[in-house]
Amino acid sequence: MEKLHHQDALFSLLLLLYSSSNLLLASGYTLPNKYFINCGSSYNATVDRRNFVGDVNSGSSYFSVRRSHVLKDGSPENGTSPLYQTARFFRKESSYEFQITENGTYVVRFHFYPFLTPTNLTAALFNVRANGYSLLSNFRVQNRSKSPVIKEFAIPIDVGNFIIYFTPQKSSFAFVNAVEAFLAPEKFVSNKSRYITPAGSDDSYSGLESRALHIIHRINVGGQTIPPNNDTLWRNWTTDDDHLLLPGSATNSKVYNNTPIYDLSIATNYSAPDDVYKTAKELNRNYSNATWVFRVNESSTYFLRVHFCDIISQNDDGTVFNFSIYSRFIELIYSYDPTTQIGTPFYKDYVVDSDDSGYMNISIGHTKIVESRTAFLNGLEIMKLITRESVSLRAPKKNFIFVIVGTVVGVLACLLILLGMIFKCRKANSVESEEWSVPLYGGRYFSWITRRTAETSSVSSLNLGLKIPFSEILHATHRFDKKLMIGKGGFGKVYRGTLRDGKKVAVKRSQPGQGQGFYEFQTEIIVLTKIRHRHLVPLIGYCDERREMILVYEFMENGTLQDLLYDSNEDCSTSSPRSELSWEQRLEICIASAMGLDYLHRGAGIIHRDVKSTNILLDENYVAKVADFGLSKSGDADQTHFSTDVKGSFGYLDPEYFRCMQLTDKSDVYSFGVVLLEALCSRPAIKNSVTREEMNLAEWAISWQKKGELEKIVDPFLVGKINPNSLRKFGETAEKCLRDSGADRPTMREVVWDLRYALDLQQARIPREGYADSITDDSFDYLPLSGVPYVPSPSFLLIEEDEVPIEGDDGSEATASEVFSQLGISGAR
Ligand SMILES: *[C@@H]1O[C@H](CO)[C@@H](O)[C@H](O)[C@H]1NC(C)=O
Ligand SMILES: *[C@@H]1O[C@H](CO)[C@@H](O)[C@H](O)[C@H]1NC(C)=O
Ligand SMILES: *[C@@H]1O[C@H](CO)[C@@H](O)[C@H](O)[C@H]1NC(C)=O
Ligand SMILES: *[C@@H]1O[C@H](CO)[C@@H](O)[C@H](O)[C@H]1NC(C)=O
Ligand SMILES: *[C@@H]1O[C@H](CO)[C@@H](O)[C@H](O)[C@H]1NC(C)=O
Ligand SMILES: *[C@@H]1O[C@H](CO)[C@@H](O)[C@H](O)[C@H]1NC(C)=O
Ligand SMILES: *[C@@H]1O[C@H](CO)[C@@H](O)[C@H](O)[C@H]1NC(C)=O
Ligand SMILES: *[C@@H]1O[C@H](CO)[C@@H](O)[C@H](O)[C@H]1NC(C)=O
Ligand SMILES: *[C@@H]1O[C@H](CO)[C@@H](O)[C@H](O)[C@H]1NC(C)=O
Ligand SMILES: *[C@@H]1O[C@H](CO)[C@@H](O)[C@H](O)[C@H]1NC(C)=O
Ligand SMILES: *[C@@H]1O[C@H](CO)[C@@H](O)[C@H](O)[C@H]1NC(C)=O
Ligand SMILES: *[C@@H]1O[C@H](CO)[C@@H](O)[C@H](O)[C@H]1NC(C)=O
Repeated sequence: MEKLHHQDALFSLLLLLYSSSNLLLASGYTLPNKYFINCGSSYNATVDRRNFVGDVNSGSSYFSVRRSHVLKDGSPENGTSPLYQTARFFRKESSYEFQITENGTYVVRFHFYPFLTPTNLTAALFNVRANGYSLLSNFRVQNRSKSPVIKEFAIPIDVGNFIIYFTPQKSSFAFVNAVEAFLAPEKFVSNKSRYITPAGSDDSYSGLESRALHIIHRINVGGQTIPPNNDTLWRNWTTDDDHLLLPGSATNSKVYNNTPIYDLSIATNYSAPDDVYKTAKELNRNYSNATWVFRVNESSTYFLRVHFCDIISQNDDGTVFNFSIYSRFIELIYSYDPTTQIGTPFYKDYVVDSDDSGYMNISIGHTKIVESRTAFLNGLEIMKLITRESVSLRAPKKNFIFVIVGTVVGVLACLLILLGMIFKCRKANSVESEEWSVPLYGGRYFSWITRRTAETSSVSSLNLGLKIPFSEILHATHRFDKKLMIGKGGFGKVYRGTLRDGKKVAVKRSQPGQGQGFYEFQTEIIVLTKIRHRHLVPLIGYCDERREMILVYEFMENGTLQDLLYDSNEDCSTSSPRSELSWEQRLEICIASAMGLDYLHRGAGIIHRDVKSTNILLDENYVAKVADFGLSKSGDADQTHFSTDVKGSFGYLDPEYFRCMQLTDKSDVYSFGVVLLEALCSRPAIKNSVTREEMNLAEWAISWQKKGELEKIVDPFLVGKINPNSLRKFGETAEKCLRDSGADRPTMREVVWDLRYALDLQQARIPREGYADSITDDSFDYLPLSGVPYVPSPSFLLIEEDEVPIEGDDGSEATASEVFSQLGISGAR
């Protein structure tokens, strides 16, 4: 208990820190005045509010430069910036050295402008490194052009000397016209980010703060070029038009006339200038997506920052759309938080491994999950990750062969790895009982052993599109308003909520340290995303942001079966059944939930482990659906994991499981037997306010069943309304389910059969005599599985079942919901 409180407190603290850190982000930062160096000059030059200090005879003690010459443009062209009229020139390895007084991420820029000198500067070939990072290797300023070449990096630097080395290649030289190294705003780059591999797996990348970044592309999507003088940190933003794959797929939106709203936003005016957020490209109606293509190096790691700001939505609803990288990774983008509004900028960071195409594809598109009005993109930055250890792979000419060999070997290795992956997937597809892994949270791998292998060859099919932003959850639940809480248990809390698109949902929020752990969370997501069945509660999405473990289900309008049957809070009072469910309705509910369980067992090889009346929910048409797979476990999974701890609920626990610690499908059958009795008697599985004999429903009811007097304990509301044959069949079924030995219990499929028969008997469609209580008559098989033998087919797992036909009175087929509406029980509660 103590521990729990600690964790809760820690959790809240983390949340608090998280939100406040965003608010504090911008406030402490003032634009620095160091270091800006006008190389090779004895004069200071003020360019765009920066004082570039001349490094010749400056007498400045802040920095020093070693072993170099000075170059000067004798006849600069009209209007050439003073920065580009002089340069430092190096024939041997030389360095600039700066005294750094504050830890942090620094923006470091080098300006190269090969003006005309007797020495042809475009012949320079050199490396630049600093702090153990290789920043430029075999660098050459290609052709003389009007504008300088500016190379920009973000480098983590600690207090002390920061030394930049310029190393000319053999018989060549190096030069530089200007150098900038200044402290970036706090949290300019966050330490952790999502990590997307070419295979599309979604992981997390930590330690970004200790990586240097080389800015490769910086794009003001939908807008104009933003030159350094118009940027808050003197960055250069270019237009996106050359990168848009299909020019017609997206158009520039109208320029936003207001100032972006930075309060409460993760973005600040230093993340990007206003102009980036005030312009955007919007997806054209004619296209399902728009794609931008960027040149990158093959199989390298990049840091991607994507800027968004909804300047398009006309009303308060905002929009939701897909953002994808390489068409393999997809994230839902909500145009703004519940706490924010139109015009609030934000950005998303990703670490991305490029594939071997030499290009990176970025797309926005409509989502099918919720109604997607439009999609937009405001800005994009692509930076190459430089690790400290990395050394120049590209070497001088004499190593040319080595380079080729290295490349060939590298390509071969990649091919082999790829082949290996494909082979592995193939194998997983064709061989039963194959283990496969699904990468999920924070680099943890969760292994799931499938008895029936799913058709999912690529791990990326872990429905990333089902991910729902935490902000949307907050919005849906009014920030977890207590008034919306509809359930509470060992796992955490359940809230009712409404998504922006109006969809009603049940939000199950587990908290770290409480009952459900990551293991169950992962299980539930994986299980639920792969399984769809009319009688299983559908998963709408999940959220794992901010250490949350949140599952979002379709909201079941009519609550739990238990709530319909009796008031669980009135255990002490004399039995107070309040249910007005007719016997037919109860049978329908039992049949439906049995079908859901049968599907789990045979279709998916999954044992529910916690079958009880609170895990059977009813939708607006009173169609029953089985819920809560948090404890689910695939049939022949590693025994060790769950043989050690008994899970499940009191009163429903299979005694055999309890004794032998052996979990089988039949444990669910036992629990379901208890549910059948609850439905019949309208009382809880365990009742404390009664005599010892009466306490445990299973024992008590079976004793009456054995006496042949089950009718004496049925819900008073049902007295006289149950056809005796139907009751007899029902009682027998429950009794079989509750047999001591699992082997003696029927399968769920047989239970469905028996209950169906009990319903037919109730509806008197079956002559009293003449029909053996046989369950082997296949002509009676109404399941859509008919013809499918007990060996389930692999594809079954992924098939969404349509309405299950049930024979109507006139022999025609009616769906379960139609049956319910015919029964007219909408006001049952
Ligand atoms: C250049 O700027 C530095 C730092 O602001 C200053 O110390 C120095 O005196 C200036 N030099 C000239 C020539 O103005
Ligand atoms: C430079 O521009 C000024 C006016 O802007 C002009 O008077 C001068 O002749 C120009 N010099 C050269 C070399 O073009
Ligand atoms: C800077 O970081 C280093 C290690 O990364 C640490 O030892 C040092 O105390 C830090 N200095 C300041 C002023 O934060
Ligand atoms: C300068 O060097 C480059 C590369 O070696 C060469 O292509 C170019 O023609 C040279 N330019 C001059 C003016 O010599
Ligand atoms: C460099 O200049 C040469 C001739 O002036 C031209 O053929 C070549 O395309 C230019 N290269 C680049 C990268 O601009
Ligand atoms: C950043 O992440 C790395 C790797 O996880 C960790 O070692 C380091 O302490 C983190 N730095 C900060 C400031 O949290
Ligand atoms: C830069 O900003 C100024 C003032 O904000 C504006 O007048 C000018 O057009 C901008 N220049 C560009 C190239 O965006
Ligand atoms: C950025 O915003 C902060 C406060 O939010 C303000 O003090 C600062 O002047 C702004 N910077 C620029 C370049 O607009
Ligand atoms: C900005 O980037 C564009 C495109 O790369 C380039 O043509 C231009 O010279 C750059 N401007 C500056 C000031 O770096
Ligand atoms: C959309 O498609 C229609 C016909 O397919 C075409 O007439 C129209 O111009 C297109 N609109 C845009 C914005 O591309
Ligand atoms: C990386 O890509 C850039 C431009 O796309 C190219 O100039 C450079 O040579 C590439 N580097 C390597 C190591 O392939
Ligand atoms: C984008 O749309 C095209 C057809 O317009 C389609 O072929 C492609 O698969 C889509 N890409 C994504 C990532 O949805």
